[in-house]
Amino acid sequence: MKRNTKDLRSYLAQVAQMAPALYLKVKHRVSLHYEMTAFVKKLGTESLYPIAYFENVEKSDHPIVSNLFANRRAIALALDCRPDEINQVYIERLDNLIQPRMTNDAPVKEVVKRGDEVDLRSLPVPKHHEKDAGPYISAGVCITKCRDGQAVNMGMYRLMVSGPNEGGIFINPLHHGAELLRQAEMKKEPLEMAIVVGHHPALAIASQNNEPLGTDDYALAGALLGEPLLLVPAETLSFPVPAMAEIVIEGKILPGVRKEEAPFGEYTMCYGMKRRSPVFKVKAITHRNDYIFHDVIPSSREHLGLWIIPSKEANLYKKIKTVFPTVKEVCLPLNGSGYHAYVSIEKVRDGDGKNVLLTLLGSEYMVKHAVVVDEDIDIRKDDEVLWAISTRVQADQDLIIVPRARSSVLDPSSYGLESLFSGEGMVTKMGIDATKPLGTHFPEKVQVPDHVWKKTDVKKYLPK
Ligand SMILES: Cc1cc2nc3c(=O)[nH]c(=O)nc-3n(C[C@H](O)[C@H](O)[C@H](O)COP(=O)(O)O)c2cc1C
Repeated sequence: MKRNTKDLRSYLAQVAQMAPALYLKVKHRVSLHYEMTAFVKKLGTESLYPIAYFENVEKSDHPIVSNLFANRRAIALALDCRPDEINQVYIERLDNLIQPRMTNDAPVKEVVKRGDEVDLRSLPVPKHHEKDAGPYISAGVCITKCRDGQAVNMGMYRLMVSGPNEGGIFINPLHHGAELLRQAEMKKEPLEMAIVVGHHPALAIASQNNEPLGTDDYALAGALLGEPLLLVPAETLSFPVPAMAEIVIEGKILPGVRKEEAPFGEYTMCYGMKRRSPVFKVKAITHRNDYIFHDVIPSSREHLGLWIIPSKEANLYKKIKTVFPTVKEVCLPLNGSGYHAYVSIEKVRDGDGKNVLLTLLGSEYMVKHAVVVDEDIDIRKDDEVLWAISTRVQADQDLIIVPRARSSVLDPSSYGLESLFSGEGMVTKMGIDATKPLGTHFPEKVQVPDHVWKKTDVKKYLPK
């Protein structure tokens, strides 16, 4: 039955219609082990980032879709806006939450498996990189209930499939999910969790939000979707789950239990080390008859795209704009693993650049290296930012260095008080002020006359 609500299928149809070059249907049979990773990453080496829909997956009757968030155009389509509007639209939508709605019409309940019928291994879960400890569900939106019993929290946490109804789950200690687990464990209670695999991309984008714990992430997903998120009662959980999902896995994180999990290819493009992680016990799996499995290739451009755009970028833009109204744009380039930030400003007073850097470095724990430039620099182009650093920076005057600041434990070069490169999450933050000084005759950037620049249409000069 065709429905008028947004889901993964309506999004794929929208992309196929509005941006067909962004949607690649792969008919070639692919293995669940490594091949999709190799394919998507090889396309990336040629600067190609289409959504990849693998129709023919070995040992599975179901297709796998990947690379949904690898470019700004695809993310913009998920939010029904233009790529240059993403940050602004994201901020505006979060100010206008849309409450979820219950429904009886739930495609995700077409198949319901409980108890002994449950087997995670029946899902087409890929193994992505050579040294990964096992197959990983990498694109699961993990939903938990906040302690107030009203709001839900969403985050994406990887799940290593380790048995028919068991998986190792990694939640970064700085994330809200970890705080909810800590609160549950203090009471020696399990933490109920639903894992959604496959939905409209707005749900995954909503899961990456930086709003305070206690904000209802279902209402936030509605705001990004532009319509209420449809919910249905869960089989085994005390909170409802998204009705238009492809797959929902219901279960509990066991209190106080830790088992070996990882190595795993992280967003840093390095393996994260083996660790003792919480254990998720599956109680039920529900899915559509013809479900589409969503996979994010870890340590790929898609992984970073979803994590950084728009949530971290828009959030930083909002914070900096509050203290510094002449900020033009904020960009977290995808080649910086989330650790690099570029900002362009209209410089009004000498010293402005340094103040912006101080705000940037303190506003987002991930940002380790920040660069501020003038508004004549296009911060979406690395070449321009590097050019500004080469011609407008003197290291004794334009750098800020902050040793022993907190960042991510997954930064391979992070350290602790006693040891370097130990992955203990302390880093040395650096700000580079690549703005021109005001009030001096700083050399002008070369240009051809504006009218000549505008009328020179390169296509007319190239061979047909
Ligand atoms: C593809 C992808 C995989 C991720 N995997 C993890 C993970 O395994 N563990 C984790 O803590 N965060 C992971 N993250 C980041 C969190 O999902 C993200 O920071 C989220 O906002 C955390 O939500 P929370 O603070 O509400 O817990 C991942 C992000 C993406 C895009």
